[in-house]
Amino acid sequence: MPKGYKILYPSDHADSFNEKDAFALDVLVGLSSTPKSISSKYFYDKRGSELFRQICLLPEYYLTERELEIIERHRQGIAAYASESPFNLVELGAGFSQKSILLLDHFAKAGLAFQYVPIDISESAMAELVKSLEKLIPRLEVNGLVTDYFNGLKWLNHRYRRKNLVLFLGSSIGNFTHKRACFFLRNLWNCLNHDDAVLIGFDMKKDIDLLLRAYNDSQGVTREFNLNLLHRINRELGGKFDAGKFRYFGTYNVFSGAMESYLVSQERQMVFIEAIGRSFLFEPWEPLHTEYSYKYLASDIEQLAEETGFEVHQHIYDSKSYFVDSIWRVQKPGNTELLARELRMTAKVG
Ligand code: AVI
Repeated sequence: MPKGYKILYPSDHADSFNEKDAFALDVLVGLSSTPKSISSKYFYDKRGSELFRQICLLPEYYLTERELEIIERHRQGIAAYASESPFNLVELGAGFSQKSILLLDHFAKAGLAFQYVPIDISESAMAELVKSLEKLIPRLEVNGLVTDYFNGLKWLNHRYRRKNLVLFLGSSIGNFTHKRACFFLRNLWNCLNHDDAVLIGFDMKKDIDLLLRAYNDSQGVTREFNLNLLHRINRELGGKFDAGKFRYFGTYNVFSGAMESYLVSQERQMVFIEAIGRSFLFEPWEPLHTEYSYKYLASDIEQLAEETGFEVHQHIYDSKSYFVDSIWRVQKPGNTELLARELRMTAKVG
């Protein structure tokens, strides 16, 4: 792999699927379902990513500040999980973040031998990240992979039998339902080697008022962030949404432990979408689900790790215990270990 600040394309994803068609198909399925829903992964076009950047700066949206504190205080300890060098510091997602910059800067100053490998499907987000890094931290080895996470990880592992430390920050895992989170983590496990480390950010269950404020900010940025989904459908799929006829509603579900976001139609309306070639009926006060943001207990996190083949090594909390960066190790027992385990089981039964 070349040295310096590079962008690589491990698969010909641009040829193998058309992003616009995939978006149109997901919108068709989501708006034809009851209740209606559209995945929050479609929040992040250029405008949506900018709005999310603004959300991260809001005083009410404590998540970013809390995780930043964890990384600031514990970067040395985190480095210890990747001490075997050279190693890959892999980041899932190429959102430019101060948290990753802090870690990278520390690793570089500590003289660790590593390459930074952000993986993201968005070519423009990757280009921006790599350009900024080149300016901010000189003499890094950066290889940004424009592809999906799992293809990127497999590609990386084929070329380098190195230890991996994988970052999945910001409680992005919280945007998956439990079933999808398990599927995602199982896939991650499958792409990694025994003893590789992953650092995953989780937002903890806490005072409901704090949660409600974080997702109903006083400046209305979260509202705009959600409504941008309708604007995006208008821009990219020729939709005829009138965003003014929808109301944003962010609420906490105490049973599931998730903040849930909706756009609620304030009147009966038909909305035509050109790329799909049909209209969709919204009844008055009918909701369109846009996002889950799950919140966790330490025991939820431990159960998730156990269910998906990881061993929890450390929970690193911020000083208010609002957020945790949990460090897990991949467990892939070798044949001898498996055999010994089986013999122990047989002895017990026999
Ligand atoms: C990216 N993700 C973890 C954010 C969250 O908190 O669920 C997205 C977000 N939605 C509303 N505000 C921020």
